[in-house]
Amino acid sequence: MPAIVLGRVVTTFVWVGLWLSSIATPTLAVPVRRAAVLPQDDPFYTPPAGYESSAPGEILRTRPVPNKLAAFSAFPQNIANAWQILYRTTDALGNPQATVTTVMEPHNPDATKLLSYQVAEDSAYQGCAPSYVLQAGTGLSDTASQAELLLMDAALDRGWYVSTPDYEGPNSAFTAGYSGGALASGWAAELQPTYAPELNIAGAAIGGTPGDLNATLYAVNKGLFVGLVPAGIVGLCQQYPELNEYVIANLKADKKDAFFKANSQCLDADTSQYAFQDMFSYFTNYNVLQGDVAVKILNENKMGKYVPKIPLHMYHSANDEMVPFAPTQALVKQYCSQGVNIEFVKDELSEHIILAITGAADALIWLNDRFNGVPVKQGCSSRTTLTSALDPGALAVFGKVIFNLLGDLLGKPIGPNSIAR
Ligand SMILES: *[C@@H]1O[C@H](CO)[C@@H](O)[C@H](O)[C@H]1NC(C)=O
Repeated sequence: MPAIVLGRVVTTFVWVGLWLSSIATPTLAVPVRRAAVLPQDDPFYTPPAGYESSAPGEILRTRPVPNKLAAFSAFPQNIANAWQILYRTTDALGNPQATVTTVMEPHNPDATKLLSYQVAEDSAYQGCAPSYVLQAGTGLSDTASQAELLLMDAALDRGWYVSTPDYEGPNSAFTAGYSGGALASGWAAELQPTYAPELNIAGAAIGGTPGDLNATLYAVNKGLFVGLVPAGIVGLCQQYPELNEYVIANLKADKKDAFFKANSQCLDADTSQYAFQDMFSYFTNYNVLQGDVAVKILNENKMGKYVPKIPLHMYHSANDEMVPFAPTQALVKQYCSQGVNIEFVKDELSEHIILAITGAADALIWLNDRFNGVPVKQGCSSRTTLTSALDPGALAVFGKVIFNLLGDLLGKPIGPNSIAR
């Protein structure tokens, strides 16, 4: 089955989440469903003994999703089927690991098209994994991931299957690239030629790519989304024991608990807890990220170590206040010199969160072309737009996303030709 990767990155859906929920919540009654069981309390997530000897990608266990998938955890989706699959994968250090993906089947599906969608989980807590927070009745506020279900709907509505993996793995290794991490699609593209060369992947769309994690950690400090700093560092600590030791040794005693709170909550809670703080002031050494252990791990998690073989659609806002533009531009330049086919869109007017919405529409159009066998432009092309919202066709798709939200609220069937248009 041809696979395709749609990637998006850290933090991008916060704004759309808050905005859409402000439309959604007051008007409709929230259906009551049985409470979902947290991954850490759910035996489904624990792989069977001896799973380590299975091949990467092997299916270990499946079940229907226990509760309906629901936008904002409240409004059930009307799709044909949704399953959870526990499968054998590999962590950032090359060790066997098992994680869960949620596979969605629309009404009237096209079995030749599968989209792998990496949500902006942006958290270092397993309770924020998509397999859990996308279900109704979790009671967890994770608007970014929950809003992205609407973008998955735009894909399902084209008849594509959608798989959305818990790419951080059971240790919620947020930002640890080799295991997926926040850069999941980009890393998947870089690692695929060696890890899964047998897959027929049509392309990957990646927006607001934090190719240089370090630059992002500094850019968000003292801002609204500074919660990404503890989430990112704690996530890395969960993958790299030596970093964990280093961070604990350098945290001020009275700041330890507050810093590690990031391992038990999702992005929304991180945002409200840490907004506008100087996270480096939590450490005895203000330049904690410039210590050897930190530099080594940040460098290991910097994109550009491997060369993707699949074509890429990348989009980035020139004024991105969270993920600085320059390192991404440098990454694009490097990939180009290495022969990757890239269509790069630089957006002059929007910023990170606006582009998350408008850029997603453009990305879906690009992915649609790949699925339909439209030849990829050879080499690197770069275009500058004043704002992606004005790109041809983007508004129609963006309209459809909103349309799907409204459809979700009414429980309309999702899939091609399921509804009169
Ligand atoms: C991270 O960014 C800071 C601020 O720009 C810089 O001083 C530091 O050298 C960078 N560290 C790494 C590992 O790139």
